[in-house]
Amino acid sequence: MISKETIDKVFETARVEEVIGDFVNLKKSGSNFKGLSPFSDERTPSFMVSPVKQIWKDFSTGKGGSAVSFLMEHEHFSYPEAIKYLAKKYNIEVEETERTDEQKEAANERESMYLVSEYARDYYHKTLLNSEIGKAIGLSYFKERGFTDETIKKFELGYNPDQWDAFTSEAIRKGYKLDYLEKTGLSIVKEEKQFDRFKGRVMFPIHSMSGRVLGFGGRILDSSKKAAKYLNSPESEIYHKSKVLYGIYYAKQMIAKEDNCYLVEGYTDVIQMYQTGIENVVSSSGTALTPEQIRLINRLTKNITVLFDGDAAGQRAALRGIDLILEQGMNVKVCSFPEGEDPDSFSRKHSKEEILTYFNENAKDFIQYKANLLVEEAAGDPVKKAATVRDMVESISKIPDAIKQEIYVQECARIMEVSENVLYNTLAQILNKNKKEALKQERSKVQESMAVVPDEMPDQAQKVNVLYELERKLIEALLLYGKVEEDFEDLILKENEDGSLELEPVVQKSRVFEKIYLDLQDDEIEFTNDLFKALYSKIVERLHNDPEFKIQNFINELAPEEASEISNIVLNDEKYELHRWDTREVYVRKKETSIAQFVSETVLSLRKYLITQKIKDLMEQTLDSNDNQDVIRDILDYQSLNTLLGNKLGRVLSV
Ligand code: CTP
Ligand code: MN
Repeated sequence: MISKETIDKVFETARVEEVIGDFVNLKKSGSNFKGLSPFSDERTPSFMVSPVKQIWKDFSTGKGGSAVSFLMEHEHFSYPEAIKYLAKKYNIEVEETERTDEQKEAANERESMYLVSEYARDYYHKTLLNSEIGKAIGLSYFKERGFTDETIKKFELGYNPDQWDAFTSEAIRKGYKLDYLEKTGLSIVKEEKQFDRFKGRVMFPIHSMSGRVLGFGGRILDSSKKAAKYLNSPESEIYHKSKVLYGIYYAKQMIAKEDNCYLVEGYTDVIQMYQTGIENVVSSSGTALTPEQIRLINRLTKNITVLFDGDAAGQRAALRGIDLILEQGMNVKVCSFPEGEDPDSFSRKHSKEEILTYFNENAKDFIQYKANLLVEEAAGDPVKKAATVRDMVESISKIPDAIKQEIYVQECARIMEVSENVLYNTLAQILNKNKKEALKQERSKVQESMAVVPDEMPDQAQKVNVLYELERKLIEALLLYGKVEEDFEDLILKENEDGSLELEPVVQKSRVFEKIYLDLQDDEIEFTNDLFKALYSKIVERLHNDPEFKIQNFINELAPEEASEISNIVLNDEKYELHRWDTREVYVRKKETSIAQFVSETVLSLRKYLITQKIKDLMEQTLDSNDNQDVIRDILDYQSLNTLLGNKLGRVLSV
């Protein structure tokens, strides 16, 4: 583990604008920087970096956080990898500490799941290479498939013995917790017993872009059994199938260098091609290609060659993937193999040169490929031909680049023997339709993001909105001013000598977070929004325990959606700066004129709002019950509290 001192030093030294500047072209904009989002294909900048607050926010995707979280999002680094990267960038020496049993426990859940997975990888790999049973069964299987020792080591292939709990019991003996074994899906827990999920299978570790083990694929050896040929780790906190490509860790350098990526279907396809010397190859491992997977490749190259076996199922899958690839502005070629061959079998039979020649001669541009495939089906059938043409134009419409679109329209017209005019008309129709849909989506997004509550909004929705805004404001107050000590004025009920009650203003010094905490506790108020609720307790706890509380340190410890929400809140006002960055408008936020005022106003509004709701609810109760003396008394109590809060709020607002 990296020592705490190193981590602190990295946080102190790293500048978010410098770190992000290595990946995104940033331009100064007022006190911030802005640029094009690296997470979406936008044309107007909505990506902001705040050097003052040391955070970033991508308004196009909602992501945001610290320098470290940027590296984790953008480079797919794990937390320690991001720290190490920064240490290197800033010439900070990395101190490592030994992992003690306690540290093993203390590491957070995700980290524990990574550790268990890495342990499993080592266990399977050692079992394959060193145990008698592993050598006799697993290793000989891989050898039979033509994998060399070097390949087996490179891909860290392994074997899980054919016993109920060989792996699980050994892992537990080594001090790994059953909880994490279960959460990663390596072990299956049933009542008192636990089993190896991958019993009797050869193992393929699945790596992240940066080489961490996320999950496994396990292949059965005995084809007579009814069980599935391949079994994969279940989705988990660390393994998201839709965001992973098998082999990307090994392929990433060559993909960039060759400026092309081969996409295949299976584990063995990747390994066999790599062994032959074609290293720029990845696989979606049996699932339909997703936009996230394509984005992984898109960062490395604009060119994808989809390879698949000649069967019909493979072709359909390839067709679906094509439009997704085009949408990201990438170039797609498609290459099928001779009947009965897949990239694995084909690579075993041929040399690298032969394979590359085959690709050169047989890889077709997507338009040609679609035409070939669909034309065969549509031969002699004009209705089908029309559908085919439309299908091709649909694909062309996905291409963001207009010049490329034009070239493809010409190509399509030639192949399908239709006039370019007809194709342009169809294209215009499709684009028009898409544009309308996009506009509709955009509009509903804008509506969502507008905080103002329209008059005609139904009660329930209004409730949610007001609460949401107030709770969010409290989080903002805690984040920005939590530690600040302020004079808060309060109205205290005082009993006069004659026994009458009077409200007396009293000024008390208090730190903002204590004020908020105590006031909310008074009325036993809980946040309704789950994310805010979690953040609230974390922030209060931190403010309480850590005199040095800094947003940028705090944000590093949060889950991605929490970190993102925090940047959202903190950078909220700057969002508007994006659109008027050139006017250099300077405006003072009202809430900064008096922190105490801002805090009191928000807390009182929340309390008053909740009490008003409560009174409404109680009133409704009196309508459908006859015996309601108690309820009415409650209502009167709440009403006097409401009046009191109203008085306080009035004073706050009039200051
Ligand atoms: N796959 C899967 N589950 C299955 C079958 C397949 O997850 N029951 C995935 C695996 O990632 C596999 C890929 O789909 O590698 C392609 O499937 P297939 O062509 O059947 O496997 P091959 O890679 O050809 O496997 P092998 O050569 O080992 O038979
Ligand atoms: Mn195969």
